[in-house]
Amino acid sequence: MHVIQAEPVSVAPRASSRGFVRDGSGRGIGYLRLSLTRNCAMRCTYCRPGFVTNAPEPDAMGVDEIEALVRHLVERHGVHKVRLTGGDPTSRADLLAIVERIAAIGGVEDLAMTTHGLTLARDAQRLRSAGLKRVNVSLDTLDAQRYERLTGVDGLPRVLEGIDAAVEAGLAPVKLNAVVVRGRNEGDLLSLVHYAAERGVGLRFIELMPMGPLAERWRERYVTAAQMRAALEPALGVWERLPQGSESATRYRVTLADKRVTTIGFITPMSCNFCAGCDRLRIAADGSVYPCLMDRPAGNVRPALRPTLDADAFDAVLRRAYTAKRPEHPHDGAAIMTHVGG
Ligand code: 5AD
Repeated sequence: MHVIQAEPVSVAPRASSRGFVRDGSGRGIGYLRLSLTRNCAMRCTYCRPGFVTNAPEPDAMGVDEIEALVRHLVERHGVHKVRLTGGDPTSRADLLAIVERIAAIGGVEDLAMTTHGLTLARDAQRLRSAGLKRVNVSLDTLDAQRYERLTGVDGLPRVLEGIDAAVEAGLAPVKLNAVVVRGRNEGDLLSLVHYAAERGVGLRFIELMPMGPLAERWRERYVTAAQMRAALEPALGVWERLPQGSESATRYRVTLADKRVTTIGFITPMSCNFCAGCDRLRIAADGSVYPCLMDRPAGNVRPALRPTLDADAFDAVLRRAYTAKRPEHPHDGAAIMTHVGG
């Protein structure tokens, strides 16, 4: 095996942050990650323990509030990328309407969604028509039994159909997210690489973060990106590090045993964090503003959206919350992924 090093990772605040809100480290906002719901059909062992039940969410913002919020963030604060997340966005009955409204806002250059993929076989085309540009699908294993053990749902065939449907609908690039958990799926990495290469979809291996039900046992379960690479190296040829671009993943071009070339990414929130280049703003369904995925909420914009958006009140909350963004993410496992949106 040999490794070709590319340019060092650039960690300067992205020039794409065009708004006027800056945090204490000079980082601006470019990318909104909007959690639409806490609910999800899955019970992934590292994310949502079995006793968390799906329930009505009277606090969740409605379609009009979401549209007003995104419009304001785009027009006043330089947001140009939006990702819908959760929970799982597909748990919301009004998802298509939400996508349509956001897609119609001029200035949203990228509109993506993170999902378990269970509903894509049915809805990929409709989501595309509504204006969704692309999807990330969570897929930690290709073994149906392990999939069920990890997620609590016997859903692998449906998810695989969903991935095909997303590709066919042009929700491109389709990317797969695999969280690697020691003792659960660290033997599944190579099969995921082959699957992604065959389907022509992206694949990113994610380091487990100390949040949610495994927070206490994070040290035993955490696999570093370097360990993942070491496990894959005997089976994969040349590793060429690709330029970072606007991706949060560190990507490599690799060669399979049959000489096909594919790309894999590693998302390394723990071993090598990318906080310095972070231009993300996270807002949850109830209007809570999270300066960081791993931090507690620092404000709530919902009162400023009712009955209609009060720009000054909104900006005051936003400025206060975004200023609370720490230079690096906290490591104390305070946050719950399903509230914040992964
Ligand atoms: N660590 C890393 N990734 C996680 N996800 C959920 N919980 C964790 C965790 N503790 C991932 C999901 C999904 C994305 C939204 O976040 O698997 O791919």
